Amino acid sequence: MRHFTNVKDIGPLFAALAKARYVKENPFADQALGKNKTLLMVFFNSSLRTRLSTQKAGLNLGMNVIVLDINQGAWKLETERGVIMDGDKSEHILEAIPVMGSYCDIIGVRSFARFESKQADYDEVILNQFIHYSGRPVFSMEAATRHPLQSFADLITIEEFKKSTRPKVVMTWAPHPRALPQAVPNSFAEWMNAYDCDFVITHPRGYELAPQFVGGARVEYDQDKALEGADFVYAKNWAAYADPNYGKVINTGRSWTVTKEKMALTNNAYFMHCLPVRRNMIVSDDVIESPQSIVIPEAANRVVSAQAVLKEILLSL
Ligand code: CP
Repeated sequence: MRHFTNVKDIGPLFAALAKARYVKENPFADQALGKNKTLLMVFFNSSLRTRLSTQKAGLNLGMNVIVLDINQGAWKLETERGVIMDGDKSEHILEAIPVMGSYCDIIGVRSFARFESKQADYDEVILNQFIHYSGRPVFSMEAATRHPLQSFADLITIEEFKKSTRPKVVMTWAPHPRALPQAVPNSFAEWMNAYDCDFVITHPRGYELAPQFVGGARVEYDQDKALEGADFVYAKNWAAYADPNYGKVINTGRSWTVTKEKMALTNNAYFMHCLPVRRNMIVSDDVIESPQSIVIPEAANRVVSAQAVLKEILLSL
């Protein structure tokens, strides 16, 4: 694997899960693989879990790790070609990327949807510029349309906690005060559609995701109905995808908060969320603090997914 940006890059999921299990049980077995190799992590947006877990994954593999926060201390970057750079942006990304590539062996990039242009977001302009101009393997640490390291960790967690061979997994939209990208729900849908489970997506009308991510999943507009018999409840907010509301909050939908009453409709489901989560908007205190909440093991598995991916990339160098 050279680049990792979506579920297809990881290959068959049963094999990827076996590799993840090996990494989890033997975290320091591959230290020689990363010796004298440098991982550069580039953040255009904030992070807690991705930053720490990916850094730890690189260190577990014996790599040197360097981190650049573009918005804190780096030159402000111009990303459009053809612009007369007479404003506040001092450096063009087309020079910055190959320079960054010259300092490392592998690059991780976090660059969220900007909600300025649906086409630019869904064309993954920033991530693809890194792929085309860095000369290095690139992996997504959450891009405009997908968050594959999160989805891989989510899948590992479901495998660890599932009680039946084909669990019912419900991804439910939940309220949030700000407009959030569709990367996490898109990606989760993509990975669940590639996995053997009964996958249902529920959200208020107007929050339909892009068809290429919904795939063959069942979409149910009645949240209570969707939650019936669920083994896993995966909560997430996202802004509207469909035009003319792309990137907008069209409904605060407070009745969609995941509460104890909602969880009572399920098959004693586990509660999942990628974090950070807004309590008593997305999920009530009692649900996230309940024994059925697996948000912490889910976050811990971010090290496993990152290490499994970095290992595959190192093997390809
Ligand atoms: N889930 C996740 O990616 O968390 P961070 O935004 O803190 O990295």
